[in-house]
Amino acid sequence: MDGIEIRGLKKSYTLESGTLHVLRGLDLTLEAGAITVVLGKSGCGKTTLLRLVGGLEKPDGGEIRFHSPRKTAFVFQEPRLMPWLNVRDNIQFGLRRGEIDPAATKRIIETVGLTGFESALPAQLSGGMQQRVALARALACRPSFIMMDEPFAALDHFTRESMQKELLRVREATDASILFVTHAIDEALTLADKVVLLSGGVCAAAFPIALPHPRDLMCDELIQARRSIVAALGAAA
Ligand SMILES: Nc1ncnc2c1ncn2[C@@H]1O[C@H](COP(=O)(O)OP(=O)(O)OP(=O)(O)O)[C@@H](O)[C@H]1O
Ligand SMILES: [Mg+2]
Repeated sequence: MDGIEIRGLKKSYTLESGTLHVLRGLDLTLEAGAITVVLGKSGCGKTTLLRLVGGLEKPDGGEIRFHSPRKTAFVFQEPRLMPWLNVRDNIQFGLRRGEIDPAATKRIIETVGLTGFESALPAQLSGGMQQRVALARALACRPSFIMMDEPFAALDHFTRESMQKELLRVREATDASILFVTHAIDEALTLADKVVLLSGGVCAAAFPIALPHPRDLMCDELIQARRSIVAALGAAA
């Protein structure tokens, strides 16, 4: 198997009021080349899971096994751009000099709909535009594993749809494995090969979705999947 296996993952935080057990022995398999979407209510530990998988924090227990070398990119809940760098330089930030490919950068800027804003500073962009720069920056390093933490939550409906399409295109073109966090059930159904429900510090349920893209959210299979997910979310609440 070429993906990522997470076994018995534990993470707690110590607060003044006591210990907060966020992840309590979580098991999850991320299949190579698949989009795994983690769904769960606010505060259930989705960002914590991404931070652990991305190596930004250490777990208290359990293990994360990567089966092949990977180039990882992260898109956070907020854009985290360098305020003093323009759009182009933010996108190329993190690339080594030899890796910078002006034609590829131009294509990525087109893809995220920011042509004409190459020289703009983050303060001159809307929140949604800043988030698109963050996505472009992640794509610029040609990652094989992309972790995305509610990356499209700040975008309007139409931009969100086009970014979802773009993400699917990127996956087709690169075969990247994607771990995607969202609150939005329809977004999960649009993107996922597998939807995983995070609740009580574990993966409480998993819903494989073996439908081709683009998907019709009103087709019988997805209506049924939505019902099952809503029921599982209700049961977990
Ligand atoms: N560094 C930290 N120190 C203490 N507690 C933390 C820390 N990071 C996260 N937590 C707590 O862990 C819990 C899970 O946080 P996390 O950010 O993973 O939630 P989330 O599922 O991503 O929520 P949201 O959907 O609102 O982004 C929360 O109760 C949060 O207060
Ligand atoms: Mg979060």
